[in-house]
This record gives sequence, structure tokens and C-alpha cells, in this order.
Amino acid sequence: MSAKLSTTGPKATASSCSNIAFIKYWGNADQQLRLAASPSLSMNLADLTITATVHFDPALEQDELIMNDVPAEGNAAERVFTHLDWVRRRAGLADRASVITHSNFPTGAGIASSAAAFSALAVAGAAAAGLSLSQAELSALARRGSGSASRSVPDGFCQWLANGSDDDSYATSIAPADHWALCDLVAVVSSEHKQVGSTGGHGLADTSVLQTARLASAQDRFAHCKAALLDKDLATMGPIIEADAVIMHAIMMTSRPPLYYWTPATLEIIHATAQWRADGLPVYFTIDAGPNVHLICEAGYADQVDEAARSLPSVKEVLRSGVGSGTQLVEA
Ligand code: DP6
Repeated sequence: MSAKLSTTGPKATASSCSNIAFIKYWGNADQQLRLAASPSLSMNLADLTITATVHFDPALEQDELIMNDVPAEGNAAERVFTHLDWVRRRAGLADRASVITHSNFPTGAGIASSAAAFSALAVAGAAAAGLSLSQAELSALARRGSGSASRSVPDGFCQWLANGSDDDSYATSIAPADHWALCDLVAVVSSEHKQVGSTGGHGLADTSVLQTARLASAQDRFAHCKAALLDKDLATMGPIIEADAVIMHAIMMTSRPPLYYWTPATLEIIHATAQWRADGLPVYFTIDAGPNVHLICEAGYADQVDEAARSLPSVKEVLRSGVGSGTQLVEA
């Protein structure tokens, strides 16, 4: 595959944040369309961003993807090209495209990047194709590439409700980025590439006998978490986000085949978080589909949490982020 940059044709660049879910998306009502089986709630991460440039070029024979200056092939590239097909179909466009992405966070750190990547890709792709889409349509477009990407399109704190149909399954902002100065400190314990990614994991969720109970109780956790978030009440929200993450991991561990994302270091940080709280530091954890632990606190406590996390020998690095805005079209 050629790594050259296209020089003709419509082109657009968008920049987007990753996000961390307080109430998790795990399992789909429609796996192919990524229609979530339960509602999720998240915060955009201002300091973990990806910029994507999409350039439709009649001279190209095939789509091209360059990630952080390296030409990409295989599954990662196919997933992006399939997403471009959605844009082409909608715009009635046949041209192939070159896609160039840059992330500002270490890609080897085991931090999920699909949310930032597909939200940036949706906004840049739609603009390059000459489509004028609403924020809801852009969020739904991002969702088709990666479910969590739907939540990176709107501003600040976002919800994505369950069981919509293709066009009405999108995320909306429930509060702007400046609503509450929360901080996510990601305690990185492993940067290994996971053997089963989120997409495969979602497909296994229904094989866990616990998923029915999780789905039956998800709306309740979502409603309580949302109310606490709007009230800026971390003491109420914290235990809900911890429970929701652990319940999701219980589904993973009891799926067939099981997915064990936790390592001993993960559990060590879970215990440490409870101890830090007992010592007076208001901090709570959440964990995505990997072993790294996201420590959530108000910004005024971030330095103390950072120091506490770094004091654990198993923590290799700590990435810090405040609350971010929605996807921005940088250049069109
Ligand atoms: C654990 O959005 O990464 O981070 O749609 O297959 O790309 P795909 O899955 P993805 O799943 C996110 C899983 C999670 C929880 C969350 O972000 O809600």
C-alpha cells in the first residue's frame, strides 16, 4: 500500500476526544449496526485526542490509511474503509479516500482509541464528502464505526440511550464540558495489545448468564448516575460507577469463552482506591476492556491522586485528562 498523501479532491480534518464511560456500553441489540443493549453515560477526555484527515481522491484506486505516520493494513484498515462506505453511500460518492490520523496519546498505552478515531473520522469524512449532517446524524455515523464513538461527538458529558433504530441511536450532551471539573487519571499497568477487543467482547456478552440481570438493572444505575452527575455529587456517583464497571467485568469473566481483562495489578489498584478514600482522598475507579484503571476525582485532588497512583510499583505511567468538548471540524 502506498503511503503517499493525496493532493487533489475534497478534504477535511476533524479533531476528537476519547471518552470514559461511567455507565458502560457492553452488548448490542444489533451487533452489526452497534445498537446498544443498555444506556451508557460518559465524559469526553480533553487531553486524549485524535485528529483525522479524510481526502476523497478520484486518482486513488483503493482506500488508504496512515496512522501516526505508519501505513495501516488488516483489520484496523478494513474497519475504517467500511466506515468510509457509509459516508460514500450517503453522499452518492464513488471516490476512494486517503485517511491520515494522529493521536496525541501513546498508542501503545492500552488506551482505547476507537472512540476518538471514529468520531473524528465521521465528522471529517462527512465534511469531505460534502454532506451537511446534524450533530445527531454525525453521532449515529460515528456509532456505526465504534459504539463508544457516538458519545465523543457531542460536548462534555454525554448519554447514549439503548434500543434506538439505526438512525435514532445517537448520543447527546447532558451537560457541557465546563459543568464540572472532573479529572480522569489513567493508571497504566500494561500496554499489551488485548487478545479480544471490544467488538468481539460485545458479541459474547449474551453468553453470560449474568447479562440478563445486568441489563435489567442498567437503567436504574444510569438514572442514578446521571442525576448525581448533574448534581456534581461524586460521593453518590462514585460507588455507582465502580459497581457498573465491576458488573461489566463480571459479564466478561462469565462469557463463553471468558474474557479476563484484569491482572493482579488491576485488583491492587481497586484495593488501593478504597484505602485512599478511607484516608480522605475522594477518588473512585472505573475500568474499560483492559487492565488499566481510570481514577476519577475532582480536579483539585488530581495531583494527590496522581502521586498516590505513581507510588504503586505496578503503575507504569499515569495519563491525566480533564473534561473535553465534542468533535471539532478543524479544516474543510
Ligand atoms: C468497555 O465502543 O470500543 O469501553 O463498538 O465494538 O468499537 P465497538 O466497541 P467500543 O466498546 C466500548 C466498551 C467500553 C465501555 C464504554 O466505553 O461504554
